[in-house]
Amino acid sequence: MNYLRFSFIGILFLLQCREPELPTCTTDSGPLFAHFSFPVGAALEPLDMASNSAYASLANTEFNSITPENIFKPAFLHPEPGVFYWQETDSLVQFCLNAGKRLHGHTLIWHQQLPYWMENFQGNATEWESMMKNHIQTIVGRYKGKVRSWDVVNEALEDDGSLRNNTWLEHIGESYIEKAFQFAQEADPDALLFYNDYSLESKPEKCKAALDMLQKLRDKGVKIDGIGLQMHISILSPSNNSIENAVQAFATAGFLVHLSELDISINPLGNKITSPKPQALLQQADKMRAILQIYQNIPAAQQFGITFWGIGDSDSWIPGFFGRTDFPLLFDENYAPKPIYCTMIE
Ligand code: XIL
Repeated sequence: MNYLRFSFIGILFLLQCREPELPTCTTDSGPLFAHFSFPVGAALEPLDMASNSAYASLANTEFNSITPENIFKPAFLHPEPGVFYWQETDSLVQFCLNAGKRLHGHTLIWHQQLPYWMENFQGNATEWESMMKNHIQTIVGRYKGKVRSWDVVNEALEDDGSLRNNTWLEHIGESYIEKAFQFAQEADPDALLFYNDYSLESKPEKCKAALDMLQKLRDKGVKIDGIGLQMHISILSPSNNSIENAVQAFATAGFLVHLSELDISINPLGNKITSPKPQALLQQADKMRAILQIYQNIPAAQQFGITFWGIGDSDSWIPGFFGRTDFPLLFDENYAPKPIYCTMIE
């Protein structure tokens, strides 16, 4: 009898420890974007396109929207006063035009990745404003009609919803935000203009502050077309409810919604891991399924697209930036599709 009982408990134990079954698939069922009615994008580094054929091949086939991960940022594109480094941005713009991919410009005004000269610019508010105008209009003007949309202002809010005390606020004042949008609109009246930020999907007070800001600007007549919810999230948080609240709030207010920098961390606590646990890959796929459902619930005309912040796990900014091992993207380190990808094409 005892023997039977122990065997039974043993079987139960084994069942519980059994690895979950993971969806498997290939990229043979056609491009990822072809499975969706909205654009599916990735952040790209042109240097990786040139040096890594697996990366370049997926960038070419799977995505129909591209966000430059770094090369449009001021530190790269505008390294000295009056000096613009167009070589890489021109070739990325040309690549997108040739391949019929949408290019989303990221980012014009931000407090990070600024060149030394800009951060230390000497001048009064009017001079700062004209420096900002020149920066925005030189870039947007050059790519008028070629870059479909821009993150005009990035991360202007603190987590509590107050305005971030950054260089632009300090030198120009609160109006830097609306002026940045006005300058961009003057340079390309047809481009779609976005405000982009993180944690809007996890911090209700920040979400509300961003929505208020966008509505106030729009009421004043400033052209502001959409919101970029960066969505650097994890399998642990935020809840699906919280994501849905944010997505719905902006959609109800009539803005385009771009899930603009999506990655789903499976190791947010920074544990010492060398490979992803199957259970975590499954949770990552489940999170993606929930995000797709939430996103597909908003009107199609407001679905600007979902952009992943990189292609393979080894391209992700997370390990370098946060100093932890992670596996947050659609493809693994060898560029094989992960369960999250398989769930998307299901
Ligand atoms: C990150 C890039 O991925 C990194 O390569 C770079 O070192 C730092 O910036 N929010 C943004 C993006 O708007 O521009 C950031 O990109 C990630 C957070």
